[in-house]
Formats: sequence, structure tokens, C-alpha cells
Amino acid sequence: MTRRSVLVGTGSALPVRAVSNQELSERVETSDEWIVERTGIRSRHLAGEGETTASLATDAARAALAAAGLEPKDIGLIILATCTPDQTFPASATIVQDKLGCHGGIAFDVGAVCSGFLYAVSVADAMLKTGAADRALVIGAETMSRILDWEDRTTCVLFGDGAGAIVLEARDVADDGPGILASKLHADGAHNELLYVDGGPSSTGTVGHIRMKGREVFRHAVVNLAEVLGEVLGDTGFTAEDIDWVVPHQANQRILDATARKLGLPPEKVVVTVDRHANTSAASVPLALDAAIRDGRIKQGDLVMLEAMGGGFTWGASLLRV
Ligand code: UT7
Repeated sequence: MTRRSVLVGTGSALPVRAVSNQELSERVETSDEWIVERTGIRSRHLAGEGETTASLATDAARAALAAAGLEPKDIGLIILATCTPDQTFPASATIVQDKLGCHGGIAFDVGAVCSGFLYAVSVADAMLKTGAADRALVIGAETMSRILDWEDRTTCVLFGDGAGAIVLEARDVADDGPGILASKLHADGAHNELLYVDGGPSSTGTVGHIRMKGREVFRHAVVNLAEVLGEVLGDTGFTAEDIDWVVPHQANQRILDATARKLGLPPEKVVVTVDRHANTSAASVPLALDAAIRDGRIKQGDLVMLEAMGGGFTWGASLLRV
């Protein structure tokens, strides 16, 4: 028997308002054709009044708890991955904790931008294994629309808002049983200037806007993701053929295709939501995971690879048996 962090529920939440490429083309010099061809994005949800990172995170957490058949009081650890917190402090995870009505457990935010959910899963897994808590809510939630420069067509068409959550439970399982099997994380701060926000509390005293050299990020993403997926497979002894589903960070359909091709994975095994969610940063992997579990594609016993790459750069992957 091995102590593992087992996935027992998933949930997600999207802002009410969906915005099409056509609608954006009335705001900046772009077109549905350009956005679809270069990114695969057709629509995204954008937060409206009263919708914040913490409110979306709370809705996603409630859905994940319901799917797991658990109550907020059953949760001893909440980790929220976000780069768009409601406030500079306190951590939005503590707002979620309060809204859920569970008190006294551990709650904190993780900032690793688009890889944030992978970082959060890895930290939660380690904490569950050492007994810091028995059950964890791991959430990725963002309101990217609030840090977009709505005059900059090279970034504002790419992102969306939303939240996804999972519940992990520490269990003693058979070696071939469920749970997180391996995770691998990386960062390389030498590439800060390729994808960043031009503000912050300690530098400018402002929130700032997203800036990105898209073409360079694209190139690094394909190389780094293929490498880290190879590392996780190497650590666990599985091969690409053993994987039932890949749930990738949803930045660009072309990145998903290129990474799958590099690994020799058929595109049918890749869960895609970028067309309707766009890039929701830390929320994109749990949003896609929840979608594929709820529509019945991902089933109990499946071997699932999660992966992401984002600002920093940061990147990582986790392999789990559902
Ligand atoms: O989530 C974190 C990780 N982020 C990513 O992984 C994003 C990675 N990068 C990408 O997804 C792609 O690089 C983009 C979608 C951002 C851009 O696609 P691209 O094929 O690399 O285009 P490009 O930046 O090379 O731009 C091509 C042309 C440029 O015009 P010129 O210089 O060739 O005349 C841009 O000015 O497309 C132009 N362009 C646009 N045209 C219409 C840029 N944005 C737009 C736009 N609408 N929204």
C-alpha cells in the first residue's frame, strides 16, 4: 500500500458573460478569422460586476465538494493558484475559506501564473502525504480581463476568466491504485521579460497590464512541455501510449497540437477547451479536467497527464490515475 493524494471531485465556474471574437473585433483591430487560425479561440467568458477571482473560486470549490460528496468542514487545506487575486493581501484562498464557511485549516495562494495549478497540485500532494491535512481543495481561478490592456490586440484577444477546483484526499492505496503518481516542476527566471505584468505593489504601486512576446513564448512552450512530460513519464516508467488523456494548459491550439505531435500522442487524447474558454491562466487545467470528467470522457482508472507552462517561465506536469 502507498499513501497517495486521490482525486475525489472536480468543479468549475465561469462568468455569466461569454464574448465572441466578433465582439472583440468591434473593440480592437482584429478578426474572428485571425484569432481562430492563430489560436483556436472562438469565445471566452469575461467577469462582470460582482464576479471576482474569489467568487468564481468559491463557486468552483462548492461544485467540487458536491461532486466529492463532502462538506466544507471536511477540508483542512485550501490552495488557490492565481495571478489575479481580489486584493494584494489577504490571500484569496482565505476569502474562499470564509465564503465556504470552514475555519482554522490551512489556506494560502500560489503564484506561478499559467503553471500555478500544477504548482498548487504538487504542493498539496506533498502536504497531504506528510499529514498536514487529510483533504485539500486545490483551485485555479483568474480574472485575467482585469489585467489586460484592452487597447493591445496582441494580448487582449487571448485570455479569459474562470475557475476550476479539485478535491484531493490522502488515502492508502494499492500500487496500481488511484492518485497522483508523479509531478515535476521547473522555473527559469531568465525569461521574465517575455511574459510579465508591467506593474505591482512593490515596483509601481499599480496593478499593471499583461505584456507578452508571443512568438518567443510559443517556441519555449513547445520545447519545455515536451521535455517535462518526458521527465514525468521517465520517473514513472510509463510511455506516451499508456496515457489515456492529456489535460494541458489551454493557451493556443497550435501549442497543444505541436506538443502532442512531439510526444507522438494522437490529438484525440488531448482535452481541448481553448476554443470556448481562451487562456484562463491557472484556471485552464482544472476547467478542462472538470469538463472532461463531467462529460464522461475521463473515467475511473484512466491515466491522466496534466501540464502547463507560463510566465516566469514556470512549467510543470503531473501524472495521476483517476
Ligand atoms: O499562457 C502562457 C503561455 N502563453 C502562450 O503560450 C502564448 C504563446 N504564443 C502564442 O500563442 C502566439 O504567439 C500568439 C497567438 C500570441 C501570436 O501568434 P503568432 O502566430 O506567433 O503571431 P505573431 O505574434 O507572430 O503575429 C503575426 C502578425 C503580426 O503582424 P505582422 O508583424 O506580421 O504584420 C501581428 O501584429 O499578426 C498580427 N497580430 C494580429 N492581427 C490581428 C497580432 N495580434 C493580432 C490580432 N489580430 N489580435
